[in-house]
Order: sequence, then structure tokens, then C-alpha cells
Amino acid sequence: MMITDAEFSCMLSAQICTEKKTILSVDDILALIGDHCHGVIGQLTEDWGEVLFSALKRAGGTAFSNMAVGYNNVDVDAANRNGIAIGNTPGVLTETTAELAASLSVAAARRIVEADQFMRAGLYDGWLPHLFVGNLLKGQTVGVIGAGRIGSAYARMMIEGFKMNLIYFDLYQSTRLEKFVTAYGQFLKANGEQPVTWKRASSMEEVLREADVISLHPVLDKTTYHLINPERLAMMKKEAVLVNASRGPVIDEVALVEHLRANPMFRVGLDVFEDEPYMKPGLAEMKNAVVVPHIASASKWTREGMATLAALNVLGKIKGYPVWGNPNAVEPFLDEKAAPPPACPSIVNAKQLGLPSSKL
Ligand SMILES: NC(=O)c1ccc[n+]([C@@H]2O[C@H](COP(=O)([O-])OP(=O)(O)OC[C@H]3O[C@@H](n4cnc5c(N)ncnc54)[C@H](O)[C@@H]3O)[C@@H](O)[C@H]2O)c1
Repeated sequence: MMITDAEFSCMLSAQICTEKKTILSVDDILALIGDHCHGVIGQLTEDWGEVLFSALKRAGGTAFSNMAVGYNNVDVDAANRNGIAIGNTPGVLTETTAELAASLSVAAARRIVEADQFMRAGLYDGWLPHLFVGNLLKGQTVGVIGAGRIGSAYARMMIEGFKMNLIYFDLYQSTRLEKFVTAYGQFLKANGEQPVTWKRASSMEEVLREADVISLHPVLDKTTYHLINPERLAMMKKEAVLVNASRGPVIDEVALVEHLRANPMFRVGLDVFEDEPYMKPGLAEMKNAVVVPHIASASKWTREGMATLAALNVLGKIKGYPVWGNPNAVEPFLDEKAAPPPACPSIVNAKQLGLPSSKL
């Protein structure tokens, strides 16, 4: 969405991109920005760097918002150089994305997609003891790499839903998550059930060796690029389930295809891919892979929330509003019955640009 300068002092006008292309190139976006544009709402598939930020600045722009929580497609240093505020949309994706990661975990562990295809192909001719035997989750260990917002929500779902034990690796301690598992374990024990346990691993490798289901939820940066590589795949249990709903390049996908081929009982659930929209050769043929097209945040509530927050980030910056204090507590911006607070919900480079904080 491009915002032009007509009447913008009291009323903003918005231009909605209706290109048939799914992914816009830098040249496409340059043409859309044109000579007058105050702010842009863009997608994670776009490459926002020096070229686009300097063009936006020349067009009179000061604001860009990704309609996403992740912003690895944005060169924040380039935005800073051009004085462009960068918005993102935390607070509305957490549960939806975690639910998809949980769905992929179950689908891969219980071979749901393979079984569905078998059924539709008319191959089912009666119950058999060994038909699509998969993994029981209860009592097994769930491993989380990157226990931030989504990783923690996913961990809770797998612990509460399937009574799995937790092992996690993050650069920071997740005290809230640890307290939750301890309390839930005590609750189970008080009810005569086997308590769940947690462990903070001292290395990622520890998680890979010990967990039965491993879900990846880190940000994508230099430290997490190809975090799952041939050596680390080899450390995992032969019947492990690996899930990725973070960013595609966190996994070396060529190595993953090799591993899936060599280990038919190893299964993956993937929402994201290294070269979206493409899959690496061979992945589509692997029966032990469940693949979905980057739909982790695709619930109606979340997508509406993302659009609202992205629009309010850009609008707020153009109007000169301060930046909301807690970008994870964005409910006041989502209330359809009340006017949103006069603030930008989430600007990731607010400090670098010296933007004021909201007192609300
Ligand atoms: N598939 C989707 O549609 C979708 C939707 C939303 C978010 N995401 C992605 O999910 C990921 C998590 O998002 P979030 O909102 O939970 O982010 P977050 O910032 O709350 O959590 C990320 C966690 O990763 C940890 N981390 C960073 N580097 C690490 C490393 N080298 N090793 C281990 N942990 C590391 C951080 O400490 C942090 O706790 C991001 O990559 C985001 O882009 C994907």
C-alpha cells in the first residue's frame, strides 16, 4: 500500500497495489513509490534496502511497515541512514503461528498427510496393525530452539496438549516458560499423573540429541542461517520430527532432502523454505515431509491484526505520533469499537531514529 501526499495533513490517501504478480521486485516497487509517497506497507517477500529507502526518502517518505513480525527482508541500517521508521506487527502472530507449528508436529508425527493421500487414492482396503504407524507424543521430549514469543507459546501447547517434557535452547533464559512447566508439572502430580519436566540446554546440539520433536523458532540472522546443517541433522534421533515455521534459510534444505531420503522414519513439517516460493529438488517427492505454503500466521484474526498494525505504524509516523511502549501489548489498536491510541504500535528502529515514546 503506497500513501501519497494529497491532503495528507488532515486526511491521508492510500494507493493499494493491485499488481497480479505475487512478489514485487525492487524495480516494481520503485515505480510504485514514484515521486510522492509518504509511507509504504510492504511484505516479507520484498527486498527493502538502500535502493528503496533512498527512493522513499526522495519521494518525501518517512515510514515503512512490514506486514509481518519478522523483518529479515529489511536492511534496518539503510533505513536509519535515510531516516525511515520501520514498523512490524508483533503481538498478533504468536498463538496463530505456534498453533500451525503444533499442527505440523502432529501431522508429521502421525503421518496425517501420507494417510490422507492413501485414503483419497482408494488404497485403503481395511484396518491393519501396521498401517501408518507413527510416534506417540505423550511423555516424549519436545525441543524448542528459540524460545521467544512463538517458541514459548508452541512449547506450552505441546506440554499442555500432549504432556511432553521440554528441552530448550535460547540465548536468553525463558524464566516464564520454566515457571509455567514447573507449575504444570506440580498440577499433574497433584492429580496423580506423571509430571512434565523442563531443561534449559547449554547448547543447541544438546536439544538435537535429546528431543523427539524439535521445533525451530529463532529469528533469521547470521547466527541462525543454516543452523540445521548435515552435521546437526546427523545428531538427531533417527525417528525425530523436525518442524520449521520460522524462516526457510534456518535449515540447509539440500542437506535436509538428503537426510529425509536416507532416513525414512525421520519426518519434517515445513511452513517455510529456503528459496520461497520454490522447494529444493526432491523435497516434493519425500513422503516423510509435510509441506505448507508459509501459512503459519494465516488465521483471519491475525491477518486482520497484522494489516491494522502495519497501517497504524505508517499512519502514526506520518502524523508524528510517538511509539507505543510495549509492542507485544497491542490490544488497544485492535478494538474496532474505539479509535486507536495516537501512537505507532511497533517501530523497530525507534531508538536509532530518536523517536519519542508514548506516555499512554
Ligand atoms: N512462518 C510464519 O509465518 C512466521 C510468522 C511469525 C513469525 N515467524 C518467524 O518466527 C520466528 C520467531 O518469531 P518471534 O516473534 O517468536 O520472535 P522472538 O524475537 O520473540 O523470538 C526469537 C527468539 O530467538 C532467539 N534466538 C536468536 N538467535 C538465536 C540463536 N542463535 N540460537 C537460539 N535462539 C536464538 C532469541 O533470543 C529469541 O528468544 C522469527 O524468525 C519470525 O520471523 C514466522
